Amino acid sequence: MSEENPKALRAQIVSTAASTITLRVLDGELSAGDDIVVVRSGQVANLTSLRVVNELIEANLNIAVVAAAGEIVAAAAARAEISDQFQAQILWLSEQDMVPGRSYTLVCAGQTVSATITRLKYKVEQASGKHIAASTIAKDETFIANLSLSSPIVLDPVSTQLKTSLFELTSGDTHILAQGEIQHSLRRASNIHWQALEVDKAVRSALKHQTPKIVWLTGLSASGKSTIANLVEKKLLAKGMHTYLLDGDNVRQGINKDLGFTEVDRVENIRRIGEISKLMLDAGLIVIASFISPFRAERRMVRALFDHAEFIEVHVDASLAICEARDPKGLYKKARQGGIQNFTGLDSPYEVPEKPELKIETETESAEEAATKIVEYLSKQR
Ligand code: ADX
Repeated sequence: MSEENPKALRAQIVSTAASTITLRVLDGELSAGDDIVVVRSGQVANLTSLRVVNELIEANLNIAVVAAAGEIVAAAAARAEISDQFQAQILWLSEQDMVPGRSYTLVCAGQTVSATITRLKYKVEQASGKHIAASTIAKDETFIANLSLSSPIVLDPVSTQLKTSLFELTSGDTHILAQGEIQHSLRRASNIHWQALEVDKAVRSALKHQTPKIVWLTGLSASGKSTIANLVEKKLLAKGMHTYLLDGDNVRQGINKDLGFTEVDRVENIRRIGEISKLMLDAGLIVIASFISPFRAERRMVRALFDHAEFIEVHVDASLAICEARDPKGLYKKARQGGIQNFTGLDSPYEVPEKPELKIETETESAEEAATKIVEYLSKQR
């Protein structure tokens, strides 16, 4: 093979022990004498000898490499890119529509990370190849989109013709939602780093003598979320806590005033609220977030933004019939008359939380009792 066209190799580390390495070859080939590189660290080693054991390559190296199982190795002369953002062509296979902003699991070259479709660029019409503007994608449609990953991976564009340029999106289990090919990485990823500042969350919250938390109230419209949220905030204030209450009224009139109530808009509404809350927790605050947040996927996405004990999901429960009878803003009535589309509980679904930290039954518990229960839960958690 000539210098200008070095042979490509992608292999995944199964295990390392001193200067022996076990590899699963994903594409390309390996021979004794080759120089290989651990892509993430850039460490180069020479392969002195190798043998095939159960379809894996067991190789002796001239040095001991420092690398974890799962990492990718390439030929030193034809290195791979690492990025956490890329553009892809994707074929959607699921009956459930693809919704930008929702979090999926990406499996690519044996690497598994969370992925969000940050920008749906266009659909590609199969017969003509024409580009069509779209906001969601249905089964069997092909589209071009930008994806953002929870952490950087080795990314091979389809132009390399390597098998590792192909990926799948799954729902977190083994259910395949889509197949895609990487077109090119978006290099912004390597330039944006969260500044490791000395003044951090721990310092800010210590000053306030509190542990940052997020109390996430979810439930139907008129279930009682706002009333409970207000009481919780008053009780925490009385204990000298620094809090912030986020709800539809203050968020949808400001930063989210461009969003309505379609599925796509609600996903984006919750995504932004999650990110805003994360900044507020970083500032050391206790955040009370009160949103219908009807979809499990977005509640899970928000939960994943926080440390384990920081996120407290509270299901504010009341039956649709009771909420509709309460109807403090007359919205159910208006929706029944056809005056509001996509109304939660009527023509838009509410997915009941499966494992909330707390559940409040507002048909039997008063708002005062509910708020006390939440504040007690918080103080036990400190
Ligand atoms: S969410 O679904 O995206 O989480 P959010 O909590 O921000 O919703 O806003 C819900 C509030 O918006 C309701 O309490 C109600 O006052 C108002 N609203 C207006 N249109 C709708 C609708 N179609 N469905 C639900 N709530 C609506």
